[in-house]
Amino acid sequence: MMKFHVLTLFPEMILQGLGTSILGRATENGFISIDAVNIRDFTTNKHNRVDDYTYGGGAGMLMQAQPVYDAWKSVCVSGENGTKSGKNKKPRTIYLTPQGAPFTQHMAEEFAKEEELIFLCGHYEGIDERVLEEIVTDYVSIGDYVLTGGELPAMVMIDSIARLVPGVLNNEVSAETESFHGNLLEYPQFSRPVSWMGKEVPKVLLSGDHKKIREWRLEESIKRTKERRPDLYKLYERDQACIQMLMKDKLLHIDMIELIRRGQAQILYFEKDGVLLRDKVSGAIMMTAKTKEAAGKILEENKDKIEKYNQNQDYWMFVSHQECINEIAQEVLGLKLVMGCYQSVYTRKEMLLAVKAAIVVDGQEVPIEIRSLGMEHVETVSGHYENADMSYVQGRIAHGCMYGAFAGDVLTGFVGIHEEGSSGMLEVFPEYRKCGIGKALETFIINLQLEKGYTPFGQVKEENEVSMALQSSLGLYFSKGKVYWFEKK
Ligand code: ADE
Repeated sequence: MMKFHVLTLFPEMILQGLGTSILGRATENGFISIDAVNIRDFTTNKHNRVDDYTYGGGAGMLMQAQPVYDAWKSVCVSGENGTKSGKNKKPRTIYLTPQGAPFTQHMAEEFAKEEELIFLCGHYEGIDERVLEEIVTDYVSIGDYVLTGGELPAMVMIDSIARLVPGVLNNEVSAETESFHGNLLEYPQFSRPVSWMGKEVPKVLLSGDHKKIREWRLEESIKRTKERRPDLYKLYERDQACIQMLMKDKLLHIDMIELIRRGQAQILYFEKDGVLLRDKVSGAIMMTAKTKEAAGKILEENKDKIEKYNQNQDYWMFVSHQECINEIAQEVLGLKLVMGCYQSVYTRKEMLLAVKAAIVVDGQEVPIEIRSLGMEHVETVSGHYENADMSYVQGRIAHGCMYGAFAGDVLTGFVGIHEEGSSGMLEVFPEYRKCGIGKALETFIINLQLEKGYTPFGQVKEENEVSMALQSSLGLYFSKGKVYWFEKK
């Protein structure tokens, strides 16, 4: 559950504006909560005033420090309507102002990772600077224009952040990889009828040929972005150039390539001598470099940025794509090497034939059916999957990224898609092994990725011979080099 607190002089505006439609339903279903605190309730002025003249002269009135501070403090106190952070940590407090950093989808993704947010809405000519210094952590603007108050901007931000919270949009594919579709605008869409005012729906969309439809949509997205948002198109071109460079060793770089393609990568550095990027979902930093010297230079130059991003990470995840980077990563970033993995990549576009598996119960054959896992499976999955903690599994299930192999109601194994896009977490419970369930799950997840237009890939530890054999038998190729995962020491 994500909590939004809004400090405002017009609480009814917030509650009415966000109480209907999708956010209203999300609130009723307990995925988010929105509480609006009236700053006026905290004034000590006997006429209930919250504003006064500006020192030094000038037009208009200013909101005073005291009521704003006391309203903020009332929210910071732990309790039913208070923030979880309580006294231990200053909660993230956003002041809406045209002087703030421009709000973007990327910012929404970052804010969506918080458990709670406080929004401070100003009125009149602004708020006394001293209280802002005391409580505000982020200054945000929703655009280069001036509004009468911070309520509409707060609502805009809450709407875009809340829709990224798992469960709020009840479509199965989460909004996590959508962003701006990899720096491209959405393609044009059509619904019935086929012909309207003499205008026809493009033929390709009626063809049923999914590959052709995907290609057409991409072309239209590119065309539209070039025309309407040349600034965004420049970023798209940069993404493409970066992918082209990584494609020189496609198998080794498949995770970085797919992150960029899926619109999930934040490119921190890209030159001829290497690439450094950040997965916006998991927070993992990935790096490839031509030489050890280049690696050292790139890491030194970007050290502060990397450390800033990693402040909020539980683990410090860094993925090096060459052995020669490892020593430098340990030295410069102070990290611990956890494991080395081969990338396994399904390089074809054709779907695999679905595998039919079954188990025998009391002499009766029970077919295996693969379906999404729900929250009721968190504990079982965590108990069988040793490489991640419960909260990670919980997150994956909440995002609709985990699937179980069921014989009737009995769970026999599972598979999933990791935050950074690789397929994995494959487990078949010991008593159900050697029945083709692993193959059925692996085939399922490959086809699922293909359906979305992705290149299916996974990462396999070199000692995991069973997994290697399974993936080879399905036609996946392995990278020659390894990728190395690091964590905080
Ligand atoms: N308050 C007034 N105008 C604003 C804007 N454009 N963005 C955020 N807060 C504001």
